[in-house]
Amino acid sequence: MNTKEIRIPYDEFEGSENLGARVAELIIKAQNAADLAYAPYSGFYVGVAIELIDGQIFTSNNQENKAYPSGLCAERVGLFFVQANYPDIPIKRMVLVAKQNNKLTEEPVYPCGACRQVMVESAERQELPFEVWMAGKNRVLRIDTPDYLLPLKFLL
Ligand code: THU
Repeated sequence: MNTKEIRIPYDEFEGSENLGARVAELIIKAQNAADLAYAPYSGFYVGVAIELIDGQIFTSNNQENKAYPSGLCAERVGLFFVQANYPDIPIKRMVLVAKQNNKLTEEPVYPCGACRQVMVESAERQELPFEVWMAGKNRVLRIDTPDYLLPLKFLL
């Protein structure tokens, strides 16, 4: 028996640190998208901005339903939308934010397991990794590939 360890590299930016104009723009767009979420049951408003390599930006948010499992997270709404419409244009980066009581969460929002699985396959499908930025008021995290978010992922 061998005990092994998996290490996950990610970059952390302090709340006041300069993230660059493009990422700052994506964070604002994701926040605006969060405001449009349909989240009457949880009160947790998630917003996503996805930048494609050709510079196009798309936003999404979580869509809940009275039958709870029928709703969908912001990440999957966005990923499935861009892959449905632009399957040949790779994703460059994805920015996630969440709001509660009309305020950006203090800490970054981390995607759920199901969304990580979809992110991993999205990167696999485009044969190119993409950055995932998770933004909170206090700090912002950047990870270079969805693979790092889901070690020991399901493989078929
Ligand atoms: N949610 C997302 O949209 N993305 C995440 O990464 C975590 C959770 C949504 C699902 C549900 O509408 C609400 O947030 C509370 O779980």
